[in-house]
Amino acid sequence: MPLHRIFINLQSKYFSPGYRCNKVKQYSLLATNTKMSAQYLDLAVAPADTAFGLMADFEADSHPKKVSLIAGAYRNQNGDPWVLPSVKEAKKRISDATHEYLGIAGSPGFVKQAKELVFGPLTAYLQENAASIQTVSGTGANHVAATFLAKHLRPSQVFIPSPTWINHKSIWQMAGVPIVEYPYYSPSTKEVDMAGMLQSLEQAKLNDVVILQACAHNPTGVDFSKVQWEQVAELVQRKKLFIVFDSAYQGFATGDVDGDAWAVRYFTEAVLASESHPGLCVAQSFSKNFGLYGERVGALHLFVPRSLSAQGARSELMLISRAEYSNPPRYGASIVETVLGDQDLRSQWKADLDTMSSRIHHMRNLLRKKLEEETQRDWSNVEKQIGMFSYTGLTAAQVSRLREEYHVYLLPSGRMSVCGLNESNIDYVANAIGEVFRNA
Ligand SMILES: Cc1ncc(COP(=O)(O)O)c(C=O)c1O
Repeated sequence: MPLHRIFINLQSKYFSPGYRCNKVKQYSLLATNTKMSAQYLDLAVAPADTAFGLMADFEADSHPKKVSLIAGAYRNQNGDPWVLPSVKEAKKRISDATHEYLGIAGSPGFVKQAKELVFGPLTAYLQENAASIQTVSGTGANHVAATFLAKHLRPSQVFIPSPTWINHKSIWQMAGVPIVEYPYYSPSTKEVDMAGMLQSLEQAKLNDVVILQACAHNPTGVDFSKVQWEQVAELVQRKKLFIVFDSAYQGFATGDVDGDAWAVRYFTEAVLASESHPGLCVAQSFSKNFGLYGERVGALHLFVPRSLSAQGARSELMLISRAEYSNPPRYGASIVETVLGDQDLRSQWKADLDTMSSRIHHMRNLLRKKLEEETQRDWSNVEKQIGMFSYTGLTAAQVSRLREEYHVYLLPSGRMSVCGLNESNIDYVANAIGEVFRNA
């Protein structure tokens, strides 16, 4: 019933003729009713996103030596954002691109390239039982996967690594699936907590979902070895769990596009060989490996058991996309399609990946040496870790001191984006970390 009708009804009920109702009373009654009907809008302010909040603080900081080691975005040796030469060239080639809508499932040419990139030679075996759509980057792919699986697979719980990319939790919370955090990283060994993880996953039930990061784990930079991947695959197969691979760093992690897809392909092969496996999906991002952060380029690949057709699943994925954003963005996808579809551009792209991953590796090596000089302790883990991030082991208090006294910004968890380091700031950062460590 509209608010004014409720008010009139109440007025006629309580304020009968002869009753002298003053205006103050009328207004307070109206205010009470408004509050009751709009109670769902009376929300506590949600905590601000830590990384984006810190980035704003960094921007506002006027200190000449400030260093940002926050964002998961590549920076070149001068500390500047870098447009990959392969991307620059592709942009020239598509300069007269159309601005028409894409279809709901995105660009078929892009989706084909994306699928081949992640599954490699296995793509030939993933026809009828695979459904792929273009998504709004890796975040969108994770979100569409969660929405789809919550509705159709109906897992009793989703297992996410602890720690992990912050959005995994938010996305699955919004999908309404109970979350279990499985131990992923052991601060004492600075390696994967294999025993803890396997023990936790033993509690999973048929069709439960497990999130695995394909390579360059965010935030730890610590990946499974091949032997460890095989152990996880054995458990997943035995318990018939559904894997969501989050593949946000293919090629960016090590510079080797196929090597970085090893785990995804290993699991896919196992599913292909199985009669009874529930399937898996891959949420693929092109933000980091193409430097197309703002273009929101991604894909979701869903792979159902051999006995099934994925056509129905594909139509459901499209229903979700249609309702959420109608169709994905065109420009970034056409850049990726152009690069991957041209021999020369593809070779250039591989060289670009090498430029990024080698620079990061070089920074890791320098940082290790400098920190070992500063602190007289072992920092080999910084060099061993892979990809954009390093889990430094710095405490929240040490991170605060770095920010307040040295204007060096990291996440409170101690996660450092190694991309923010370069020859000009690495001494300053290492000295600052050294001082904070010595005087903890
Ligand atoms: C593990 C992981 N997954 C997914 C993403 C999603 O990135 P985007 O939405 O920019 O593709 C990120 C970005 O930092 C990530 O680290």
